[in-house]
Amino acid sequence: MTLILGIETSCDETSVAIVENGVKVLSNVVKTQAIHSNYGGVVPDLSSREHVNFIFNVFSDAIKMAKVKVDDIDVISVVNGPGLVGSLMVGVSFAQALGLRYSKKLIITDHVIGHIYGNVLTYGNLEFPMISLVVSGGHTSLFLVKEDFSLEPVGKTLDDAAGEAFDKCAKLLNLGYPGGPMIEKYSKEGDQNFFKFPVARVSDYNFSFSGLKTSVLYYLRSKDKDFIEKNIHNIAASIQKAVVDQLLSVMKKYFIDNKKRMIRSVSIAGGVSANSYLRNRFINLFKGKGCEIYIPNFEYCTDNAALTAGYAYLKYKKNEFSDIGIKVYSRN
Ligand code: KG4
Ligand code: ZN
Repeated sequence: MTLILGIETSCDETSVAIVENGVKVLSNVVKTQAIHSNYGGVVPDLSSREHVNFIFNVFSDAIKMAKVKVDDIDVISVVNGPGLVGSLMVGVSFAQALGLRYSKKLIITDHVIGHIYGNVLTYGNLEFPMISLVVSGGHTSLFLVKEDFSLEPVGKTLDDAAGEAFDKCAKLLNLGYPGGPMIEKYSKEGDQNFFKFPVARVSDYNFSFSGLKTSVLYYLRSKDKDFIEKNIHNIAASIQKAVVDQLLSVMKKYFIDNKKRMIRSVSIAGGVSANSYLRNRFINLFKGKGCEIYIPNFEYCTDNAALTAGYAYLKYKKNEFSDIGIKVYSRN
């Protein structure tokens, strides 16, 4: 049995988890930093400070909930990018301190690959090769994932991420932060065909969402307050449709163009994969296409430390440890 304690502080969630053998989540404590809602987006400096304020209690709770002793932990994993550098620094420093105090080795993991691993935590074994769409506040990328969980990049956003587009549009509509869940909530009672916001056509298998934000801005400027208030559900639903249309059209194109690669499964991952409208349309798109369809459990969509503690098991089996003096990097 291998117990891995994972630490995630890349953005605005302070999280510590303990995962057994890469699949059994014994605890996964996530503290979301509420402070950013006052600013309509994550403020990097405040994020680092909140991680410092929260990390020790989150760690203590994770240990208690898993009913283990720190001495029983085999290895400590920590997310080391991509993310906010000051925020990552808190998690990495905490991992280093624990490693020194308890004589444990360190494993660093990539934030994006962790999101994809949320599907392993949900389903156990996956079929490969797998196409995975990672959609979050910081990333929108398409990958071909191989049997050994290595990633072949297929495409990515050329500007904003999908979650960022939701957050920015929600801000324009005064719906609060984080915007994605608010757009979803308002969309539920709206007509998705109320207004056709433009869906960018980008070369290859890339994405672009900055045009959507601009067109929403100009659309809202052209309407009066009463009209916006009366149609807020319809506008939210039209925005949600525009984002999901683009995400799925790129994924579908890659799936069709790459039939010869014998794709065995398709998956979504990241914070935006919690969106029910995306989940349903994704399932409908690939149903009956001869591949497995994976959507992560809700608790493994947005940032959480079970993703690093789970994925680190693959590195542990290959002895891929990091030096205790590892430096923090925000991009790799
Ligand atoms: O993966 P994540 O927690 O953090 C990053 O790695 O960025 O994703 C956060 C993003 C935010 O942009 C948030 O608005 C979006 O995921 N999000 C959603 C939903 N829940 C979270 N977007 C649409 N619908 C949701 N239900
Ligand atoms: Zn994330």
